[in-house]
Amino acid sequence: MAPLLNDKIVLVTGGGSGLGRAIAKAALEAKAKVCICDVNDVALAEAEKDLENWYNIGPLNILSKTNADVTIEASAEHAIEYTLHKFGRIDVVVNCAGVMDGFDAVDTIEKAAWDKVISTNLTGPALVSKHAVKQFLSQKNPGGVIINVGSVASLSGGFSGAAYTAAKHGLIGLTKNTAVRYANKNVRCNAILPGPMHTNIFKSFDGVLNEEGLALSQQLLSTPCPSTVEAEKVAKTIVFLSSDNAKPVNGAVVTADGGVSSF
Ligand SMILES: NC(=O)c1ccc[n+]([C@@H]2O[C@H](COP(=O)([O-])OP(=O)(O)OC[C@H]3O[C@@H](n4cnc5c(N)ncnc54)[C@H](O)[C@@H]3O)[C@@H](O)[C@H]2O)c1
Repeated sequence: MAPLLNDKIVLVTGGGSGLGRAIAKAALEAKAKVCICDVNDVALAEAEKDLENWYNIGPLNILSKTNADVTIEASAEHAIEYTLHKFGRIDVVVNCAGVMDGFDAVDTIEKAAWDKVISTNLTGPALVSKHAVKQFLSQKNPGGVIINVGSVASLSGGFSGAAYTAAKHGLIGLTKNTAVRYANKNVRCNAILPGPMHTNIFKSFDGVLNEEGLALSQQLLSTPCPSTVEAEKVAKTIVFLSSDNAKPVNGAVVTADGGVSSF
Protein backbone atom coordinates (compact mmCIF):
# COMPACT_ATOMS: atom_id res chain seq x y z
CA MET A 1 0.00 0.00 0.00
CA ALA A 2 1.36 3.46 -0.93
CA PRO A 3 2.17 5.74 2.00
CA LEU A 4 -0.91 7.79 2.94
CA LEU A 5 0.50 11.20 1.99
CA ASN A 6 2.82 10.17 -0.82
CA ASP A 7 4.13 13.37 -2.47
CA LYS A 8 1.60 15.62 -0.73
CA ILE A 9 2.70 19.05 0.48
CA VAL A 10 1.60 19.76 4.04
CA LEU A 11 1.74 22.99 6.09
CA VAL A 12 1.33 22.67 9.88
CA THR A 13 0.83 25.85 11.92
CA GLY A 14 2.16 25.72 15.48
CA GLY A 15 4.43 22.95 14.24
CA GLY A 16 7.26 23.72 16.67
CA SER A 17 5.74 22.02 19.68
CA GLY A 18 3.30 19.44 21.02
CA LEU A 19 0.63 18.20 18.64
CA GLY A 20 1.91 20.28 15.70
CA ARG A 21 5.34 18.68 15.92
CA ALA A 22 3.72 15.23 16.20
CA ILE A 23 1.67 15.97 13.07
CA ALA A 24 4.81 16.99 11.18
CA LYS A 25 6.47 13.73 12.19
CA ALA A 26 3.44 11.61 11.23
CA ALA A 27 3.15 13.42 7.88
CA LEU A 28 6.86 12.86 7.14
CA GLU A 29 6.42 9.19 8.02
CA ALA A 30 3.52 9.11 5.55
CA LYS A 31 5.95 10.50 2.91
CA ALA A 32 4.69 14.07 2.73
CA LYS A 33 6.87 17.10 2.21
CA VAL A 34 6.21 19.23 5.28
CA CYS A 35 6.51 22.89 6.21
CA ILE A 36 6.02 23.90 9.84
CA CYS A 37 5.40 27.47 10.97
CA ASP A 38 5.43 28.84 14.49
CA VAL A 39 6.01 32.09 16.38
CA ASN A 40 8.60 30.44 18.60
CA ASP A 41 12.03 30.21 16.92
CA VAL A 42 13.45 28.04 19.70
CA ALA A 43 10.60 25.54 19.29
CA LEU A 44 11.09 25.58 15.50
CA ALA A 45 14.80 24.79 15.87
CA GLU A 46 14.09 22.03 18.41
CA ALA A 47 11.46 20.54 16.13
CA GLU A 48 13.89 20.54 13.22
CA LYS A 49 16.45 18.64 15.31
CA ASP A 50 13.84 16.27 16.75
CA LEU A 51 12.49 15.46 13.27
CA GLU A 52 15.95 14.93 11.71
CA ASN A 53 15.54 11.16 11.61
CA TRP A 54 12.26 11.49 9.77
CA TYR A 55 13.26 13.91 7.03
CA ASN A 56 16.73 12.61 6.36
CA ILE A 57 15.59 9.15 5.36
CA GLY A 58 14.66 9.80 1.76
CA PRO A 59 14.11 12.43 -0.94
CA LEU A 60 10.39 12.60 -0.24
CA ASN A 61 10.82 13.41 3.42
CA ILE A 62 11.66 17.06 3.37
CA LEU A 63 11.05 19.47 6.24
CA SER A 64 11.02 23.24 6.01
CA LYS A 65 10.30 25.80 8.71
CA THR A 66 9.37 29.46 8.95
CA ASN A 67 8.41 31.97 11.62
CA ALA A 68 4.82 33.03 10.99
CA ASP A 69 2.24 34.47 13.37
CA VAL A 70 -1.21 33.25 12.33
CA THR A 71 -2.93 36.20 14.03
CA ILE A 72 -1.47 38.66 11.50
CA GLU A 73 -2.89 38.35 8.00
CA ALA A 74 0.34 39.20 6.15
CA SER A 75 2.16 36.65 8.27
CA ALA A 76 -0.50 33.95 7.71
CA GLU A 77 -0.23 34.65 3.98
CA HIS A 78 3.57 34.41 4.26
CA ALA A 79 3.24 30.86 5.67
CA ILE A 80 1.26 29.82 2.59
CA GLU A 81 3.57 31.63 0.15
CA TYR A 82 6.67 30.24 1.82
CA THR A 83 5.37 26.66 1.55
CA LEU A 84 4.46 27.27 -2.09
CA HIS A 85 7.88 28.75 -2.83
CA LYS A 86 9.59 25.72 -1.23
CA PHE A 87 7.49 22.94 -2.69
CA GLY A 88 5.49 24.31 -5.66
CA ARG A 89 1.94 23.57 -4.44
CA ILE A 90 -0.02 22.96 -1.22
CA ASP A 91 -2.26 19.96 -0.59
CA VAL A 92 -2.94 20.02 3.15
CA VAL A 93 -3.05 22.77 5.78
CA VAL A 94 -3.38 21.85 9.45
CA ASN A 95 -4.47 24.77 11.63
CA CYS A 96 -2.86 23.57 14.86
CA ALA A 97 -1.36 26.74 16.43
CA GLY A 98 -3.18 27.51 19.64
CA VAL A 99 -2.96 29.00 23.11
CA MET A 100 -4.75 28.23 26.37
CA ASP A 101 -6.77 30.63 28.50
CA GLY A 102 -6.62 30.96 32.29
CA PHE A 103 -9.88 29.06 32.91
CA ASP A 104 -11.66 32.36 33.58
CA ALA A 105 -15.44 32.42 33.32
CA VAL A 106 -16.98 35.47 31.68
CA ASP A 107 -17.13 37.62 34.85
CA THR A 108 -13.36 37.61 35.36
CA ILE A 109 -12.00 37.44 31.81
CA GLU A 110 -9.58 40.23 30.89
CA LYS A 111 -10.21 41.76 27.47
CA ALA A 112 -6.54 41.32 26.50
CA ALA A 113 -6.63 37.60 27.37
CA TRP A 114 -9.92 37.18 25.45
CA ASP A 115 -8.43 38.91 22.38
CA LYS A 116 -5.27 36.80 22.44
CA VAL A 117 -7.16 33.50 22.64
CA ILE A 118 -9.77 34.40 20.02
CA SER A 119 -7.19 35.80 17.61
CA THR A 120 -4.88 32.79 17.88
CA ASN A 121 -7.45 29.98 18.08
CA LEU A 122 -10.17 31.31 15.75
CA THR A 123 -9.07 34.32 13.69
CA GLY A 124 -5.71 32.66 12.93
CA PRO A 125 -7.25 29.54 11.37
CA ALA A 126 -9.63 31.78 9.36
CA LEU A 127 -6.75 33.87 7.98
CA VAL A 128 -4.61 30.85 7.13
CA SER A 129 -7.63 29.13 5.54
CA LYS A 130 -8.39 32.24 3.47
CA HIS A 131 -4.99 32.17 1.81
CA ALA A 132 -4.86 28.37 1.67
CA VAL A 133 -8.20 28.17 -0.18
CA LYS A 134 -7.12 30.87 -2.65
CA GLN A 135 -4.06 28.76 -3.40
CA PHE A 136 -6.04 25.47 -3.55
CA LEU A 137 -8.43 26.96 -6.12
CA SER A 138 -5.77 28.55 -8.32
CA GLN A 139 -3.15 25.80 -8.49
CA LYS A 140 -2.78 23.15 -11.21
CA ASN A 141 -5.13 20.25 -10.36
CA PRO A 142 -7.11 22.48 -7.97
CA GLY A 143 -8.01 21.17 -4.52
CA GLY A 144 -6.77 20.70 -1.00
CA VAL A 145 -7.60 19.73 2.56
CA ILE A 146 -7.86 21.84 5.71
CA ILE A 147 -7.81 20.26 9.16
CA ASN A 148 -8.81 22.55 12.04
CA VAL A 149 -7.60 21.44 15.46
CA GLY A 150 -10.44 22.03 17.90
CA SER A 151 -10.72 20.48 21.32
CA VAL A 152 -13.15 18.71 23.64
CA ALA A 153 -13.87 22.37 24.50
CA SER A 154 -15.42 22.67 21.01
CA LEU A 155 -18.38 20.64 22.29
CA SER A 156 -18.43 21.11 26.04
CA GLY A 157 -18.46 24.14 28.35
CA GLY A 158 -16.48 22.55 31.15
CA PHE A 159 -12.95 21.97 29.89
CA SER A 160 -11.54 25.51 29.81
CA GLY A 161 -12.41 29.17 30.31
CA ALA A 162 -14.91 31.25 28.34
CA ALA A 163 -12.43 32.48 25.72
CA TYR A 164 -10.95 29.09 24.79
CA THR A 165 -14.40 27.46 24.79
CA ALA A 166 -15.85 30.19 22.57
CA ALA A 167 -12.90 30.07 20.15
CA LYS A 168 -12.99 26.29 19.83
CA HIS A 169 -16.79 26.24 19.38
CA GLY A 170 -16.37 28.92 16.70
CA LEU A 171 -13.83 26.76 14.90
CA ILE A 172 -16.56 24.20 14.24
CA GLY A 173 -18.62 26.89 12.50
CA LEU A 174 -15.63 27.91 10.40
CA THR A 175 -15.02 24.24 9.52
CA LYS A 176 -18.60 23.57 8.41
CA ASN A 177 -18.91 26.79 6.41
CA THR A 178 -15.62 26.14 4.62
CA ALA A 179 -16.61 22.52 3.94
CA VAL A 180 -19.93 23.49 2.37
CA ARG A 181 -18.70 26.50 0.38
CA TYR A 182 -15.96 24.60 -1.46
CA ALA A 183 -17.45 21.09 -1.51
CA ASN A 184 -17.78 21.16 -5.30
CA LYS A 185 -14.27 22.50 -5.78
CA ASN A 186 -12.28 19.55 -4.46
CA VAL A 187 -11.55 21.34 -1.18
CA ARG A 188 -12.36 19.50 2.05
CA CYS A 189 -12.36 20.90 5.58
CA ASN A 190 -12.69 18.87 8.78
CA ALA A 191 -12.22 19.49 12.48
CA ILE A 192 -10.49 17.16 14.92
CA LEU A 193 -11.21 17.54 18.62
CA PRO A 194 -8.45 16.07 20.79
CA GLY A 195 -8.84 15.32 24.48
CA PRO A 196 -6.21 16.58 26.94
CA MET A 197 -2.64 15.85 25.80
CA HIS A 198 0.71 16.32 27.53
CA THR A 199 2.13 19.29 25.59
CA ASN A 200 3.39 22.80 26.33
CA ILE A 201 -0.04 24.44 26.03
CA PHE A 202 -0.33 25.51 29.67
CA LYS A 203 2.90 27.51 29.30
CA SER A 204 1.11 29.66 26.70
CA PHE A 205 -0.99 31.39 29.35
CA ASP A 206 1.01 34.21 30.96
CA GLY A 207 -1.36 34.96 33.88
CA VAL A 208 -2.54 32.95 36.88
CA LEU A 209 -4.70 29.93 36.10
CA ASN A 210 -8.15 30.19 37.65
CA GLU A 211 -8.31 27.49 40.36
CA GLU A 212 -12.09 27.11 40.30
CA GLY A 213 -12.07 26.44 36.57
CA LEU A 214 -9.17 24.02 36.85
CA ALA A 215 -10.96 22.09 39.61
CA LEU A 216 -14.10 21.85 37.45
CA SER A 217 -12.03 20.58 34.57
CA GLN A 218 -10.34 17.96 36.78
CA GLN A 219 -13.75 16.81 38.01
CA LEU A 220 -14.99 16.41 34.45
CA LEU A 221 -11.90 14.42 33.62
CA SER A 222 -12.52 11.88 36.38
CA THR A 223 -14.85 9.98 34.07
CA PRO A 224 -14.52 6.28 33.19
CA CYS A 225 -12.80 7.40 29.97
CA PRO A 226 -9.03 7.84 29.62
CA SER A 227 -8.17 11.30 30.94
CA THR A 228 -5.45 12.03 28.37
CA VAL A 229 -4.72 11.02 24.80
CA GLU A 230 -1.37 10.65 23.02
CA ALA A 231 -0.53 13.48 20.61
CA GLU A 232 1.18 10.91 18.32
CA LYS A 233 -2.09 8.97 17.90
CA VAL A 234 -4.11 12.14 17.28
CA ALA A 235 -1.49 13.09 14.66
CA LYS A 236 -1.97 9.77 12.85
CA THR A 237 -5.74 10.36 12.80
CA ILE A 238 -5.07 13.77 11.21
CA VAL A 239 -2.83 12.16 8.58
CA PHE A 240 -5.66 9.76 7.69
CA LEU A 241 -8.21 12.60 7.43
CA SER A 242 -5.76 14.49 5.19
CA SER A 243 -5.26 11.54 2.87
CA ASP A 244 -7.22 10.59 -0.24
CA ASN A 245 -8.56 7.57 1.68
CA ALA A 246 -10.73 10.06 3.58
CA LYS A 247 -12.09 11.75 0.40
CA PRO A 248 -15.75 11.43 1.42
CA VAL A 249 -15.10 13.02 4.82
CA ASN A 250 -15.98 16.73 4.63
CA GLY A 251 -17.39 19.08 7.27
CA ALA A 252 -16.88 16.37 9.89
CA VAL A 253 -16.24 17.00 13.54
CA VAL A 254 -14.09 14.08 14.64
CA THR A 255 -13.47 13.55 18.35
CA ALA A 256 -10.10 12.08 19.36
CA ASP A 257 -10.57 12.10 23.11
CA GLY A 258 -10.98 8.50 24.22
CA GLY A 259 -14.71 9.13 24.69
CA VAL A 260 -14.49 11.93 27.29
CA SER A 261 -16.81 14.29 25.41
CA SER A 262 -19.46 11.54 25.08
CA PHE A 263 -19.64 10.99 28.84
N1 LIG B 1 -2.78 19.99 24.89
C1 LIG B 1 -4.05 19.74 25.03
O1 LIG B 1 -4.50 19.21 26.07
C2 LIG B 1 -5.02 20.06 23.90
C3 LIG B 1 -6.29 19.47 23.90
C4 LIG B 1 -7.16 19.74 22.85
C5 LIG B 1 -6.77 20.57 21.81
N2 LIG B 1 -5.53 21.12 21.84
C6 LIG B 1 -5.15 21.99 20.71
O2 LIG B 1 -4.03 21.45 20.06
C7 LIG B 1 -3.34 22.51 19.37
C8 LIG B 1 -1.85 22.39 19.64
O3 LIG B 1 -1.60 22.70 21.00
P1 LIG B 1 -0.53 21.89 21.88
O4 LIG B 1 -1.27 21.23 22.97
O5 LIG B 1 0.34 21.09 21.00
O6 LIG B 1 0.26 23.13 22.55
P2 LIG B 1 1.77 23.61 22.41
O7 LIG B 1 1.84 24.86 23.23
O8 LIG B 1 2.70 22.50 22.73
O9 LIG B 1 1.90 23.97 20.84
C9 LIG B 1 1.25 25.08 20.28
C10 LIG B 1 2.22 25.79 19.33
O10 LIG B 1 1.50 26.88 18.70
C11 LIG B 1 2.42 27.96 18.60
N3 LIG B 1 1.70 29.23 18.47
C12 LIG B 1 1.03 29.91 19.43
N4 LIG B 1 0.54 31.06 18.94
C13 LIG B 1 0.89 31.10 17.62
C14 LIG B 1 0.67 32.02 16.58
N5 LIG B 1 0.01 33.16 16.79
N6 LIG B 1 1.16 31.73 15.35
C15 LIG B 1 1.87 30.59 15.12
N7 LIG B 1 2.11 29.69 16.09
C16 LIG B 1 1.64 29.94 17.32
C17 LIG B 1 3.22 27.90 19.89
O11 LIG B 1 4.44 28.64 19.80
C18 LIG B 1 3.42 26.41 20.05
O12 LIG B 1 4.63 25.98 19.45
C19 LIG B 1 -3.98 23.81 19.85
O13 LIG B 1 -4.87 24.28 18.87
C20 LIG B 1 -4.73 23.40 21.10
O14 LIG B 1 -5.83 24.24 21.37
C21 LIG B 1 -4.63 20.89 22.84
